[in-house]
Amino acid sequence: MSAGVRVIAIDGPSGAGKSTVGRAVAERLGVGYLDTGAMYRAVTFAVLRRAVDPHDEAEVTEVASTVDLDIADVDGVTRVIVDGVDATQDIRGREVTESVSAVSAISAVRAELVRRQRDWVVEHGGGVVEGRDIGSVVFPDADLKLYVTASPRVRAERRVDEIGGDVDEVEASIIERDRKDSTRADSPLVEASGSTVLDTTGLDIEAVVSRVLEML
Ligand code: DC
Repeated sequence: MSAGVRVIAIDGPSGAGKSTVGRAVAERLGVGYLDTGAMYRAVTFAVLRRAVDPHDEAEVTEVASTVDLDIADVDGVTRVIVDGVDATQDIRGREVTESVSAVSAISAVRAELVRRQRDWVVEHGGGVVEGRDIGSVVFPDADLKLYVTASPRVRAERRVDEIGGDVDEVEASIIERDRKDSTRADSPLVEASGSTVLDTTGLDIEAVVSRVLEML
C-alpha cells in the first residue's frame, strides 16, 4: 500500500452486517467498495460451470488464474460478470454457497484473489474492502479495521428476512460455514490485531452504521 492510499478493512462472518456497514462507510468517504466474498463466489461459479470438482486443487487453481472477473458495485448490489456471463444472482444461490468454503480453502486460489484485491485498491486509490482476512492478511496496515459479528441465530433470521428459507436450517448452515472458515489452515476468519469489534446482535444495523460513521 503506498502512502496516501486509504483502506478500510471490514471482516466478520456471513450475515453479520458487513456489507451494510461497508457500503455506508464507502458512501460517506466517497470511495469504492469491494466485496471479496463475491470474488470467491465468482470463482466457485466458474468452477461449477466448467464442471470442475471444487476439491480438485490443481483444476480449481487453474480456473482461478484464468477466469475473467468483472465485479462492480452498482446501486448497493455487487454485480458480477464471470467470463462474460452475468452471475449476480447465481453466486448467492445454494450450489455456490455449498461449494465456496472448499474453493476458498485452497491457498493458490487465495493468493490469486489477494493479488486481484490489492490491484483493485491500487487502481481505485483506496477504498472499503470487505471479507474474512482483509485486516489480518490482505491489508494488515489498513487505516481502520472493523470486525463485524452477530450471533448465528440473528444472522440466520436476517438472511431469512432477505431471501426466505427455514431459520433452523439456515442457522445450521451458517454455523457449519463459520466452522470451515475459522478452522481452515490458510487465512482463517479471525479478529485481526488492531480491529474494533462491532457485535450487531440485538442492534439495528443502521444504529451500527451511525456509530461507525461517528468513529470516522
Ligand atoms: O461473505 P460471503 O458469505 O459472500 O463469502 C463467501 C465465502 O468466501 C465464505 O464462505 C468465506 C469465503 N471468503 C474468504 O475465504 N475470504 C474472504 N476475504 C471473503 C470470503
